[in-house]
Amino acid sequence: MTVSIAIDGPAGAGKSTVAKKAAYLLGYTYIDTGSMYRAITYLALEQQADPEKEEEILPLLQNLEIEWKQENGENIIYINRKNAADAIRTPEVTASVSAVSAHPLIRERMVEKQRELAASGSAVLDGRDIGTTVLPNAEVKIYMTASVEERARRRHEENKAKGMESNLETIQQEIAERDLKDSTREVSPLIKADDAVELDTTKLSIDEAVEKILEMVKERTFKA
Ligand code: CDP
Ligand code: CDP
Repeated sequence: MTVSIAIDGPAGAGKSTVAKKAAYLLGYTYIDTGSMYRAITYLALEQQADPEKEEEILPLLQNLEIEWKQENGENIIYINRKNAADAIRTPEVTASVSAVSAHPLIRERMVEKQRELAASGSAVLDGRDIGTTVLPNAEVKIYMTASVEERARRRHEENKAKGMESNLETIQQEIAERDLKDSTREVSPLIKADDAVELDTTKLSIDEAVEKILEMVKERTFKA
């Protein structure tokens, strides 16, 4: 049977790390939907479009070709045939992505693409609206959370490990602002689906969180 796993939640909850590992262990495809919103945001900034104006960004979708390539065990995003793994994670893109992703027509196109990707086999998708909008019939739905302090600490550690300058307080503020924008927008806001299981990772290791997901998959697919 084809199984879809939806993992939603705020920034730094551990979604992508845990989703990637669970997908690897299950032999499923991992689909990082946040990277798609980051890709269009990157293109918008490059073309000097205003992130707040949907009419300026929408035409850019026609020139957006997103692909992923497996390189050294990593899923690398390519935008218009260029490796964009670092380009989509700059502080500038992070600061504008919530504004870009609040636009309804942009979301409509992204959701369409995400459903197409998910239809090709069993997959783990992570994002903000997977369980509520993209795949409301997903077999397993997780709403992953962690305290904002812990989420900021994780991002701070990540930056330091990359040799980037980082300020814990600023990160916490940015994360809180992005969460607020994502959860209060009109179209498919970040919200726990009624049938999603909440997984608080504040005190969980990556492997413990992965284990919980594998248990849920076993339970749900056995019953089905
Ligand atoms: O990795 P991080 O938690 O920082 O963010 P991300 O998953 O890369 O997502 C970046 C942004 O894209 C989010 O803050 C949302 O504004 C948007 N997003 C969304 O609206 N819907 C999704 N399914 C995924 C991401
Ligand atoms: O995708 P999301 O923004 O929800 O979070 P992430 O990028 O997967 O995780 C942010 C950072 O927290 C990464 O450096 C993970 O290695 C780390 N992490 C952790 O320390 N403990 C966990 N239980 C989950 C993630």
